Amino acid sequence: MIFEEFAPAKLNLSLSVVGRRADGYHLLESLVAFADIGDRLTAEAAAEFSLTIDGPFAASLNAGADNLVSRAAQLFAERVGRRADVALRLTKNLPVASGIGGGSTDAAATLRALSKLWAAPIPADLPAKLGADVPVCVAGVPAWMSGIGEIVEPAGALPDWGIVLVNPGVALATPAVFKARSGAFSAGGKFMPSLDAIAAAGNDLEAPAIALVPAIATVLAALRGLPGIRVVRMSGSGATCFALFDRPENAAQAAKALKAQAPSAWWIAAGRVA
Ligand code: C5P
Repeated sequence: MIFEEFAPAKLNLSLSVVGRRADGYHLLESLVAFADIGDRLTAEAAAEFSLTIDGPFAASLNAGADNLVSRAAQLFAERVGRRADVALRLTKNLPVASGIGGGSTDAAATLRALSKLWAAPIPADLPAKLGADVPVCVAGVPAWMSGIGEIVEPAGALPDWGIVLVNPGVALATPAVFKARSGAFSAGGKFMPSLDAIAAAGNDLEAPAIALVPAIATVLAALRGLPGIRVVRMSGSGATCFALFDRPENAAQAAKALKAQAPSAWWIAAGRVA
């Protein structure tokens, strides 16, 4: 039997950096949601472990033991006290190192698939061991994320907003962006997640990310020029940016217009917030 899981793009609708721990990790407060745009993962019992990667962004990933999907499977197997005797296939549709949680959402999908295949619950502390964004991706619902990512509180269902995602085709490593951040920390603070309230919030990593990859500013400007936009922002540590719309149809229309004029290196996808 093959277990298939969708691994949705993670969106930081807002992101405040509110402090830094002694170990260098940053304390965050972020409203996180997901899109119906993402990777796919299948898991099937096998004689031994394997990971196969296909899809448009397969070439930018290696399928070795350090892949977050492999690490999720190995760690979960250890905790269950069994061998990771499973064949995994990842269809990589999302750009890598891009602020939409690609590796984290794939790891979360792996844990969900193996939890079904092995009929074992996901150990509560395992997601945070795989990465700061993995717990919210395991939750898979709109949520307020805080601490360094280990505190996840559901934020309630969101309306059927449309979204356009744009990546300029430049990978950006998360540690570099946190390192480039300077100045005072934000106060943070939660709010009722309306489009107006999200528009009034921000992403504290946007400025340092733009300093490292100026093309992000070009993407943000292009999104701001689209008809019907309600929010334009970078997600996570970038470089992927998003625009929110009242309805998915508006997003689809705007993406079509953008594709007609955007550089060919840009990855552009339209969908709905889920
Ligand atoms: O946990 P993850 O592997 O996703 O984090 C990658 C890097 O991003 C960390 O090593 C750290 O430098 C930085 N980071 C941070 N504060 C966070 C999350 C990540 O400083 N809350």
